[in-house]
Amino acid sequence: MNTWGRLFRVSLLGESHGDGVAVLLDGVPAGLRLTVGDFAGDLRKRRGGLTGTTTRREADRPLLKSGVRAGRATGAPVLIWLDNKDVDSGGYGEFRRKPRPGHVDFTAGVKFGGFNDIRGGGHFSGRLTAALVAAGVVAKKMIAPAKIEARLLEAGGETGAVGISRAIQEAMAEGNSIGGIVECRVGGLPVGLGEPFFDSVESGLAHAAFAVPGVKGIEFGAGFRAARMRGSEYNDPIVDAKGTTATNHAGGINGGLTNGNELVFRAAIRPAASIGLPQRTVELPAGKRAEIRIRGRHDACIALRVPVILEASAAIVLADLMAIDGRIPKIWR
Ligand SMILES: Cc1cc2nc3c(=O)[nH]c(=O)nc-3n(C[C@H](O)[C@H](O)[C@H](O)COP(=O)(O)O)c2cc1C
Repeated sequence: MNTWGRLFRVSLLGESHGDGVAVLLDGVPAGLRLTVGDFAGDLRKRRGGLTGTTTRREADRPLLKSGVRAGRATGAPVLIWLDNKDVDSGGYGEFRRKPRPGHVDFTAGVKFGGFNDIRGGGHFSGRLTAALVAAGVVAKKMIAPAKIEARLLEAGGETGAVGISRAIQEAMAEGNSIGGIVECRVGGLPVGLGEPFFDSVESGLAHAAFAVPGVKGIEFGAGFRAARMRGSEYNDPIVDAKGTTATNHAGGINGGLTNGNELVFRAAIRPAASIGLPQRTVELPAGKRAEIRIRGRHDACIALRVPVILEASAAIVLADLMAIDGRIPKIWR
């Protein structure tokens, strides 16, 4: 459903072109410092504005509607609301009749009997990740001093700022979109986060990462490369009593538990479905073959905006695992 977590519970709500998007947080420790200003940096990073991202401009000024008083969490559920203001819902009606290839129009239309809000992708829109990022801001505070940093490794198969920029420009010039790979690293984690079997650290991080619209693959440490390595190469030599390893093919995880080394994972982000080129679809309900052209404001490279979103999804999972492991202190500075 729309809720993640056991002791730190995150519920997302809203739609792309509805009144707004929001997140309800249960398990925020009383006393945690929280002000509107705390959210500005991460929300700005997600908003885009770079070449290759949507021209939609939302202020993303969070309203702390519950659970915060005088700059501190009260221990009650925290509700963070973000208004939708810059909304242009023209043209979406057509997608009920002619579903966009690679998008959710067909699947959600069938599942919800056509009652789903299709405007701007509705609840399936990347807009929901604004609320996720807001939750991540709180989660990052909870897991401090552990620190999360994600960055775009490649886009359209190109690496480096110049190559990535060129790939985006080329895709945009042809009315197309490109994918990318985002790497996330977490430093300063204790040994032993994660729970047996189904609640391994990888399970949780993958679950939350795949919830982000457009994520199509995830790998930890050496990831798929591990399948081609020998044990003698893959195994990370342990060099001290704290469990520090000389290499990090395991990505900071052994047996589903953090091992105290840097946690490293990468996510593959698909190219956006909304492209300007003509695409093949059908006309419903008859199923007659048809062509569709998508206009409007869209991301040519979703991956540009994903790093801070992936940081948030990781922070949420780690905050919950820390709470389960009894590692969230009661008193906050
Ligand atoms: C920040 C962000 C922005 C996005 N922008 C677009 C977009 O402009 N056009 C589009 O077709 N999909 C966009 N998406 C992806 C869709 O929401 C997603 O592909 C769609 O819901 C289908 O889900 P799937 O790709 O996981 O199958 C965006 C996703 C994120 C995280």
